[in-house]
Amino acid sequence: MAFQKPTGTQDILPGNVENWQFIEEKARDLSRRFNYKEIRTPIFEQTELFERGVGETTDVVEKEMYTFRDKGDRSMTLRPEGTAGVVRSYVENKLYGEPDTCKLYYIGPMFRYERPQAGRQRQFHQFGIEAFGAIDPSIDAEVVAFGYQFCREIGLQGVKVEINSIGNPAVRAAYRDTLLNFLNPLRDKLCKDCQSRMDRNPLRVLDCKVDQQYFTDAPSILDSLDEECATHFEKVKQHLTAMGVEYTINHRLVRGLDYYTHTAFEYKAQGIGAIDTIGGGGRYNGLVAGIGGPDQPGVGFGIGLERIALILEKQGIAIPQPKPLDVYLIALGEQAEDEVTKQLHILRTQGIIAEKDYKGRKMKAQMKSADRMQARFTAILGDDELSRGEIALKSMATGEQKMVPLARLAEEIIK
Ligand code: HAM
Repeated sequence: MAFQKPTGTQDILPGNVENWQFIEEKARDLSRRFNYKEIRTPIFEQTELFERGVGETTDVVEKEMYTFRDKGDRSMTLRPEGTAGVVRSYVENKLYGEPDTCKLYYIGPMFRYERPQAGRQRQFHQFGIEAFGAIDPSIDAEVVAFGYQFCREIGLQGVKVEINSIGNPAVRAAYRDTLLNFLNPLRDKLCKDCQSRMDRNPLRVLDCKVDQQYFTDAPSILDSLDEECATHFEKVKQHLTAMGVEYTINHRLVRGLDYYTHTAFEYKAQGIGAIDTIGGGGRYNGLVAGIGGPDQPGVGFGIGLERIALILEKQGIAIPQPKPLDVYLIALGEQAEDEVTKQLHILRTQGIIAEKDYKGRKMKAQMKSADRMQARFTAILGDDELSRGEIALKSMATGEQKMVPLARLAEEIIK
């Protein structure tokens, strides 16, 4: 029986992994410029962290978690998202004790048991950032602008930013009543999911994919904002405008996770089939305290790298090509083979990208390999040359060949 990868997972193979390396390098490069430091947290955590952090009535917690009992009979869960673990670590390591705003980023796999489709996997990857300790709207704007700039520098075309404010808990409680007054007469027309969400988490009704036609006249949460929330949102928008980040306001944008307060936003783009959200995030002022930490605010985003990679491919974006081989070494004769093994290692230790044949193939086949690997040079060593301490170095571009002393091989290649 041949094994297959689990449903909803992916092998990222050479030829494609270069796109991923490009995306990840961009994420790291931007994180340096925006002064976010990398954090690496475990890919599994106590189940309760996600129940309390992400929210018990969310789809993620209710339906999508990979939860298991470990041998010590503890309930553990593969992380469905990055924020909860980072918040746990922020609290556990007392990072809130630092005087500066704590700005962190992460890149890594996340796990959700969902129905796979283009851009939706069971193991997927996020690039995420989280900034703790600041309530200033300038950091909300920084986070939104960061993700937008990331998409732009990757080269993605047509990325749109949608923002909303979902206020503080008091605002949401008041809005909830207003919204239910609007939804109650529609109840029978709405789908089963919406009906159940009306009872448990009415804001999420607005997120329904099938019932949007009924919500055109839904009351806007923006009309329910109190002065503090409204001022915060105004400032975020002002900063975004000043930064040149184009955005649209979507007063029906509610995120799928429960921890958000104030700013909520999403990045959207066409080109991944039915799915158009490539990332999202927002502010979460109650989360740190909610999982037992001090009362510290936070704001961040998570961007799905599968979705970025898909659009990159669809839009035919050219990425910088990895450096090809400097030299392919070819041995003709038994003693020459041993010397080539040694020379190969020497070249590599001197920073040269070098390769040889390991299968005892004929010279012609080896030359073809050198071609396939786009080697700049081939270096051919026969037993005769070896006895003279020389090697034939051939430029693959010009076909020009010359004898060089073995001791000066690296030097010649670098030259
Ligand atoms: P999220 O909206 O649940 O937010 O996920 C963020 C992004 O992860 C999505 O927009 C999508 O690109 C990607 N994603 C989610 N599920 C899948 C999947 N099954 N397959 C492929 N990609 C997927 C969060 O996770 C928050 N932690 C973001 C955040 C950080 N908010 C504040 N800080």
